[in-house]
Amino acid sequence: MTNIIINGGKTLEGTLPIFGAKNACLPIICATALAEEKVTLSNIPDLSDIELLLGLLEEIGCQTSFCKEKREVEVTPNIAKTELSQKANKMRASILMLAPLLARKGSAKIPYPGGCSIGGRPIDITLDGLRALGVSFEDSDDYLIASAGKLKACEFTLKFPSVGATEALIMAASLAEGTTVFHNVAREPEITDTMDFLNALGADMFFSDDNSITINGAEKLAGCQHRVIPDRIITGTYAVIGALCAGEKGILIENCQPKHLQTELNVLQQAGVKMDIKENSIFIPQQDKNYVGVDFETSVYNGFATDLQAPIMMFLTQCDGEAHVTENIYENRFMHVPHLNNMGAKITPVSHHLAVVKGKTDLVGAKVESTDLRGSAALVIAGLIAEGQTIVEKVQHLDRGYETLDKFLANIGADIKRGTVL
Ligand code: UD1
Repeated sequence: MTNIIINGGKTLEGTLPIFGAKNACLPIICATALAEEKVTLSNIPDLSDIELLLGLLEEIGCQTSFCKEKREVEVTPNIAKTELSQKANKMRASILMLAPLLARKGSAKIPYPGGCSIGGRPIDITLDGLRALGVSFEDSDDYLIASAGKLKACEFTLKFPSVGATEALIMAASLAEGTTVFHNVAREPEITDTMDFLNALGADMFFSDDNSITINGAEKLAGCQHRVIPDRIITGTYAVIGALCAGEKGILIENCQPKHLQTELNVLQQAGVKMDIKENSIFIPQQDKNYVGVDFETSVYNGFATDLQAPIMMFLTQCDGEAHVTENIYENRFMHVPHLNNMGAKITPVSHHLAVVKGKTDLVGAKVESTDLRGSAALVIAGLIAEGQTIVEKVQHLDRGYETLDKFLANIGADIKRGTVL
């Protein structure tokens, strides 16, 4: 079991680089299996989920390589097999493999997807949309077994603008016969990036103002080179770290796209955080930290991202007054709360969807447990400002989404290291 050990209270100064968004890499890597020629992807973060997904592409017959120094992934697509092993249930994104297998080979057998336990996380919208494209499913306890002839265009309304369902459905429809229209789609930047990638392969799809995506099905898709957009969730996490820890020389977050997190940056600014936001960077100078709590509620893009709820709730513990955090996307996303309270925070979870944060509270180091990906980031931030030592246990959750967060923070002055406990 790997832990992160932090001695809190250090001021941090220097540059934090941002690399490609995990949530864009995952659909795009799956979508490479739709292509018939070599694909080169750049700006790829070094994350366990990426390696796992490349392993799944290898399982079906693709050739993949990941040059970590260049942050480049190459995939030579080939589908020799349409069944995925139980390894696939380690990550929820494996459901995205369904679309390329069906679109190119007309059959798929994949284990039901796993991932963080932040809620029920059903896949009904993906399955209903695929049915509308002509896919049928067989009942099985462990596997999702699907078959189809040539996929046929359809008009389908998503009952909720699910990110994963939108991604799966646009992939499938990219090779369907005819013109498909999906209504009530998700519009996260990672979806736009996936569409840009698919269009670079030769697909033809575009958003309309009424929240729909129109897709003119292509006969086949070729190869391309694509640079993945920067990770907006890591950018927001670093912005919180800057607000709470920046020393005299400040913290520069570089190679990011602040326009993708305007809502979340606005909350920080309303609370009193000063930052210099440019097109591709954010500079956070040393702060006076006279922050005041601001209410926020998560919603679909371009509302407040649920993935930044935990880090920014942590920030609210350092603001004066009472702030309400409403979580509208998931029903189990306050798992970090007892751990933050254990360190001295005063957060009351009123329901699964509402928590009240009373600030400002001094935090003291404690042994806390990483429970989910984004909650773990909140605990690391707490450790950075807490008095004394914090041990964040089970950081494998953190590593799924934050590439060596400890090393990047140590580089700018944090007293943070990894330790293994048997
Ligand atoms: C993606 C992101 C995740 C982020 C989430 C919301 C990836 C790899 N993960 O997850 O980090 O927190 O978007 O921005 O990109 N739902 C259904 N039926 C479905 C699908 C979803 O009811 O078929 C519900 C879910 O239970 C959940 C909500 O829709 O309450 C949001 O889920 P969704 O947008 O699908 O998130 P993911 O794609 O899983």
